[in-house]
Amino acid sequence: MSEAVAPQSEAPLIGAPLIEAPLIEGPLIEAHKVTRILPGIVPTTLVHDVDLVVGANEFVAITGPSGSGKSSLLYLLGLLDMPTSGEVLIEGKATAHMTEEERALARLTMLGFVFQFHFLLPELTVRDNVMLPMRALGRLSRNEMRARSETLLSSLGLADHMGKRPDQLSGGQRQRVAVARALANEPPVILADEPTGSLDSKASEQVFEVLQDLVRGHGKTVVAVTHDLAMAERMDRQIELLDGRVVSDHKHAAARI
Ligand SMILES: Nc1ncnc2c1ncn2[C@@H]1O[C@H](COP(=O)(O)OP(=O)(O)OP(=O)(O)O)[C@@H](O)[C@H]1O
Ligand SMILES: [Mg+2]
Repeated sequence: MSEAVAPQSEAPLIGAPLIEAPLIEGPLIEAHKVTRILPGIVPTTLVHDVDLVVGANEFVAITGPSGSGKSSLLYLLGLLDMPTSGEVLIEGKATAHMTEEERALARLTMLGFVFQFHFLLPELTVRDNVMLPMRALGRLSRNEMRARSETLLSSLGLADHMGKRPDQLSGGQRQRVAVARALANEPPVILADEPTGSLDSKASEQVFEVLQDLVRGHGKTVVAVTHDLAMAERMDRQIELLDGRVVSDHKHAAARI
């Protein structure tokens, strides 16, 4: 069944800001000489000496062959993992010495995650899944959380599915729920690990357009790992990894045309 998905740019996709966030001018995420080595009898280097700066309103693709460290890098940028050496800064703040609570707060307020396999909780409704990060942050009342969840889901074309459980949705719909969940606390950055990797071409295109609209229409920054080079070409910047190292990082001049 076809659905109207791509949100109108003028529609308030993420609603009025519920959390007064100051305008962010400097870099949102920085990696300074980030290396991640998994200890073991034979230590494995996942990410090697990566330097990166990601600013506001960027649409960034991370590409590279399987095993090149794309997911590992995304988890480091998203504070889901910690570097062995080097450092990750969020909004200019060093994160290495943060307590687990401080890291969790930075993740909840600054970063939204979308994974290849949605990771929605199967026993919860779609609406309740989207409310989870809001509950974790604890800044809204139950009614406000519910209203915001419904606003987000409606603007992603899911108004008719809010009371369903994830297994009652198609893959593309589930992935749009995952995007809604990532936006729950209105973070400036969405990190996505192959968000279209398990979808057919039509659903992929719909999810891509949702991500694109977050950047073009709503000022978000999206960093997405993808194997799809045609999709990467349509983004503004492409960072290519090989054996855990950045081998190219370039802007696509024509991407916004
Ligand atoms: N827990 C782990 N134990 C051992 N090796 C690991 C572990 N996690 C990742 N690796 C290795 O680290 C390297 C980078 O893995 P990573 O998952 O970041 O690659 P990727 O570029 O995301 O690959 P894919 O495109 O297949 O998702 C790979 O060689 C992988 O085998
Ligand atoms: Mg991966």
